[in-house]
Amino acid sequence: MKRIVVTAPQLTDIVARELDGCEIIGGDTPMETGDHAMTREELAEQIVEADALLSSLSDPLDADMLARATKLEVIGQCAAGFNNIDVDAARDRGIVVTTTPGVLHETTADLAFGLMLMVTRRLGEAERYVRAKQPWHYDHTFMLGMGLQGATLGIIGLGQIGEAMARRAAAFGMDVVYTARHDKDASAIDATNPSTAPTRRVELDELLRTSDVVSVHCPLTEQTRHIIDAGALAAMKSTAYLVNTARGACVDEKALVTALRNGEIAGAGLDVYENEPDIEPELYDMDNVVLLPHIGSAARRTREKMTELAARNIAAMLGGKDALTPVG
Ligand code: GLV
Repeated sequence: MKRIVVTAPQLTDIVARELDGCEIIGGDTPMETGDHAMTREELAEQIVEADALLSSLSDPLDADMLARATKLEVIGQCAAGFNNIDVDAARDRGIVVTTTPGVLHETTADLAFGLMLMVTRRLGEAERYVRAKQPWHYDHTFMLGMGLQGATLGIIGLGQIGEAMARRAAAFGMDVVYTARHDKDASAIDATNPSTAPTRRVELDELLRTSDVVSVHCPLTEQTRHIIDAGALAAMKSTAYLVNTARGACVDEKALVTALRNGEIAGAGLDVYENEPDIEPELYDMDNVVLLPHIGSAARRTREKMTELAARNIAAMLGGKDALTPVG
């Protein structure tokens, strides 16, 4: 019987259904009921005899960890990102790595768009104000924020999620510029709204200088680590906002705190952090910052589809077939 190690709380009914006939270890203690992902030590113990891992985005699947695996055939990462996995080390050991593209980008773009609205229209701040029972009445000059219509959105990384964010932005009347290694097909973005400017690929420095909102959607790699650093923040308009739903380490979080403190940018909407779940303490006290707990794809149906795809990748590989969505 094949042994599947599920490294973190999972939708266990779906795992059991998709991997019927396998031995399933772990995955059945959701955070709400008091437990969380396997520790490094637990994973190190479990990986030795695993035929497959159904993994989560913060599992430390580095070369040392993978060297402990004696039977591992496939890692079914239940996420779009895979920066926690040493893919070269896996390949060297004949382990196939799979992820879950194509099922979470619309949901994650919804969240990114929500963050953009929250931070530019001061929704978190306004809601805290009301809950604090502060005196208020309708006032023409009260809680003024930035409107999205006519503003420019700069998307760093026009992959599936970036493109879905761009379509939403165009529908709200924003012009879109983006960075990517090559020109991308922007026809679906431009078709959304004939009155916005044609979507253009630009260099990062132009994007930073001209955007009213900069939204990060690139994978975390050695090239994109701290792509938003002190210099990038200084290049942004002082009226511009940063949104990050990609990976925390794409942004130098300490530099972000300094830039916000000095008014170099207008605000930030963050769903991800450099050292999750820790957050730079000063950010908690900044009213022009929205902080979410890494919930980009956390819609029930989306999470179901992610689990299904991760499990089906494992089932395919263990059944001698090709993986559905391998990395690379
Ligand atoms: C979430 O952050 C993911 O990579 O799916």
